[in-house]
Amino acid sequence: MSKIQLTGSAKALVVYYSRTGNTREIAKQIHKIVGGDIVEIQPVNPYPDDYNATTKQAKRELNSGFKPALKTRVENIGSYDFIFVGSPNWWSTIAAPVKTFLSEYDLSGKTIAPFITHGGGGMARCVDDIKILCKDSTVLEGLAVWGESQSAAQSEVSEWLRKLGMAG
Ligand SMILES: Cc1cc2nc3c(=O)[nH]c(=O)nc-3n(C[C@H](O)[C@H](O)[C@H](O)COP(=O)(O)O)c2cc1C
Repeated sequence: MSKIQLTGSAKALVVYYSRTGNTREIAKQIHKIVGGDIVEIQPVNPYPDDYNATTKQAKRELNSGFKPALKTRVENIGSYDFIFVGSPNWWSTIAAPVKTFLSEYDLSGKTIAPFITHGGGGMARCVDDIKILCKDSTVLEGLAVWGESQSAAQSEVSEWLRKLGMAG
């Protein structure tokens, strides 16, 4: 399996979208270990607080290929070699704001490590869809964490980072 080597001036970015905080928690755990920068992806129009309203909207957006505008801007994306990309599993794929992010920025030549939180569906098509959007990036083995167990996921996170060569 490919490994990450963060040596010399190589820099990591942890970038994620989280509607209810599960993916944010995992992002923070990763950032604590790998360092670098951490950025939360925020759409211009936030998704509804209501779960059913969000699932309906997300389904419509998935079917139409809609990519919501983001208010998040990442400066100097070129300065990062390793990008940890986090998303909840939405209808078996990555959330639409993450699709926007991956489409808007040039991540060619970069190494991407995906992490996903889910409600029982696991990784599903998330990594495959990241590979489709990031054809010229190296996409590593992803981490899938049950959303409700994120606070207990520290050992899964550190084991995954250790396998990627990022933690001792
Ligand atoms: C629009 C929507 C669609 C979802 N679809 C799935 C799914 O297909 N499979 C699954 O396991 N969980 C699904 N979930 C549950 C989320 O993946 C899970 O709660 C996740 O941890 C939420 O992350 P967050 O707190 O970072 O937003 C869905 C949640 C939402 C809001």
